[in-house]
Amino acid sequence: MKLAVVGGGSTYTPELIDGFARLRETLPITELVLVDPAAERLDLVGGLARRIFARQGHPGTVVTTSDLDAGVDGADAVLLQLRVGGQAARERDETWPLECGCVGQETTGAGGLAKALRTVPVVLDIAERVRRANPDAWIIDFTNPVGIVTRALLQAGHKAVGLCNVAIGFQRKFAALLGVTPADVHLDHVGLNHLTWETAVRLGGPEGENALPRLLAEHGDALADDLRLPRSLMDRLGVVPSYYLRYFYAHDAVVEEQRTKPSRAAEVAAMEKELLEMYGDPALDEKPALLAKRGGAFYSEAAVDLAASLLGGGGSPYQVVNTYNRGTLPFLPDDAVIEVQAAVGRGGASPLPVAPLDPLYAGLIANVTAYEDLALEAALRGGRDRVFKALLAHPLVGQYAYADGLTDRLIANNREHLAWA
Ligand code: G6P
Ligand code: MN
Repeated sequence: MKLAVVGGGSTYTPELIDGFARLRETLPITELVLVDPAAERLDLVGGLARRIFARQGHPGTVVTTSDLDAGVDGADAVLLQLRVGGQAARERDETWPLECGCVGQETTGAGGLAKALRTVPVVLDIAERVRRANPDAWIIDFTNPVGIVTRALLQAGHKAVGLCNVAIGFQRKFAALLGVTPADVHLDHVGLNHLTWETAVRLGGPEGENALPRLLAEHGDALADDLRLPRSLMDRLGVVPSYYLRYFYAHDAVVEEQRTKPSRAAEVAAMEKELLEMYGDPALDEKPALLAKRGGAFYSEAAVDLAASLLGGGGSPYQVVNTYNRGTLPFLPDDAVIEVQAAVGRGGASPLPVAPLDPLYAGLIANVTAYEDLALEAALRGGRDRVFKALLAHPLVGQYAYADGLTDRLIANNREHLAWA
């Protein structure tokens, strides 16, 4: 089995490699290709990847290349984990929205739109080249904003599934708190990528006993601390929101906080520098502990599970993924991309039925879906008016004066990445 990782020179990659090495029975990779335009990084990351495989006795080979077409040639699955413009563009996404009183975040609000506009054309070009090299290859998209990027891929007819680590993170956390194995925890996870709620935590399978009331009663404080939201909010709602909901439920407080702190991008850039120095050490042959300070915990396990199922191996039968709605949430168009539990196999992902949703969640999901629709239009067709409309539709923007100010800043800060600007 050949797997290619586009954006393989990311400092995150050793997390992925560690998962591939540990879970080699589930996903028997014979050749792993790391593709990245940044040759120097790729060398460092590739060297460490080979040492991790060797230490763990993984028989597969690791190849590095900056030639995308050669790298994806013959791949059974291609993982996309790229970041157009790197941490520098992310830093801008996290900063200029604050000037208009809007949250500075790389996937949510105006910063998320900027990222979508930079990313969608690049990902579509890569996907086209993957399809040319091997029309049967599966594309697993980790590239943010995952909801919009996955919708772009599916709309262009690609064999793609979008993936995020938020759900697997909750699954692992809840399992530890409840003292059960992760495979026994089945989440009723519903919404859009980075806009989800855990509405039930079932034990043993999709129809199992709901342990969420017990979790909230016994571990509400710990969960609230992690999410940085008040416990009373979760108690009143009776659900666990993802930590991205903090940008909605505590928007103004987050803006205040962000104005006084270095951006997450700056923190990550400092960590990346340190990580790359470590990766250059020939004695290092495991993923360094510092990687745990990144947001991507367990993403390798989610990737292995999904790739194993899509390629016909032994992944979990149900997984939380991003795919077409197709009636699952009846208040959304069929071609909206949602993030829910799905049955996953060789044919792709089919969402499991979702119980009727409280308007408290349905309303926000519908609103953000409308934004994502307009955001994708803007990413595909460009133009100031389309950017403005997407921002006006976003629940964290809404007012025309904000949308105008943000549109100008978005364009000014991303001109080199926007063909039409
Ligand atoms: C979580 C999200 C990812 C995001 C990451 C950011 O893992 O699910 O979509 O890319 O956090 O982590 P970072 O360490 O770069 O802030
Ligand atoms: Mn994510």
